[in-house]
Amino acid sequence: MFQKNSEITGTESIDWKTLPFGYLKTDFNIRCTFTEGIWSELEVSDSEYFPIHIAATGLHYGQEAFEGMKAYMGIDGKVRLFRWTENAKRFQISAKGILMAEVPNELFHEAILKAVKLNQRFIPPYGTGASLYIRPLLFGSGAEVGVKPSSEYTFIVFVSPVGPYFKEGFSPVKIAIVRDSDRAAPNGTGNLKVGGNYAASLRGIAKAHSFGCGSPLYLDSKDKLNIDEIGAANFFAIKNNTYITPKSDSILPSITNMSLIQLAQDLNLKAERRPISIDEIESFDEVGACGTAAIISPIGEIKDIENNKIYRFCINGQPGPISLKLYNTLVGIQNGEIPDKHNWTEIIELN
Ligand code: PLP
Ligand code: COI
Repeated sequence: MFQKNSEITGTESIDWKTLPFGYLKTDFNIRCTFTEGIWSELEVSDSEYFPIHIAATGLHYGQEAFEGMKAYMGIDGKVRLFRWTENAKRFQISAKGILMAEVPNELFHEAILKAVKLNQRFIPPYGTGASLYIRPLLFGSGAEVGVKPSSEYTFIVFVSPVGPYFKEGFSPVKIAIVRDSDRAAPNGTGNLKVGGNYAASLRGIAKAHSFGCGSPLYLDSKDKLNIDEIGAANFFAIKNNTYITPKSDSILPSITNMSLIQLAQDLNLKAERRPISIDEIESFDEVGACGTAAIISPIGEIKDIENNKIYRFCINGQPGPISLKLYNTLVGIQNGEIPDKHNWTEIIELN
């Protein structure tokens, strides 16, 4: 029914194994508008552009939220989504948090299925380490000049084939503690996936890069005593056979992290979600970053430039054994190599 985008060359020219985490044009995206209390039918577009009102609240006041999820090509040739209902729920919580209309589960599901099916030639093959990233976004598209919620919302879903977020893949990454810029405030929007948090994180990312590191490690913005999260990923550590991850109201509740807590317990580890003091870093056996984009990225170095300290992990450059086991289990479930005993995946019927 829909003609593939003739401007895009065949996918044979894509080197799936070296794909960066970035944007690559695909054939179609999905759009939908909320006006006067009603969501319109989903519309399929082959344009990468969207006409937007110059006074849209999304543009001026950052009334915008997004999600990040992936479709995985399995060992059995089947395509799987991972815990999409959790993304739908978080998208609704983000929308509510900045007074936007919420996208109902059925509409969210229909839109992501359509986006994946219509762009199925861009789903990276099994075994390449790449996957099809799905980016739902929602923003105030109605005109306002006063600071108030929009009367109209636009929901868009586009996809892009991606490699891992950290160029190192499943090899140790370096991160740097950044204290002089915060991504989130106490009682702010740090627990929501809203665009403003990412704008606020750009200075911290630039600072981490200037220290030769891939991402910033943010501490709690009030006291700078406890670990919050890492750029666009949650933090976890392993110590005494225990999976430990921060409890904080200003971090994004990561679906990957939530899954790793369960997988750690399945592997007979204890799991703790609690405040983690920066002083505890030295006592950890393994540390890592986790998220849809980051998957699990073992951390090899945490630099604390202000205090002239470097914490080192992954001796001999190898990820720790528990991080490796968690990585293999998570990725194995997503790729259909390991039985999905928690019913986390949904197979997409391609036609
Ligand atoms: N923290 C932040 C700030 C993020 O942007 C993300 C990515 O979504 C995560 C953590 C990881 O969350 P998830 O595992 O749900 O992708
Ligand atoms: C994800 O992990 O899905 C993210 O959304 C990270 C992204 C902000 C780069």
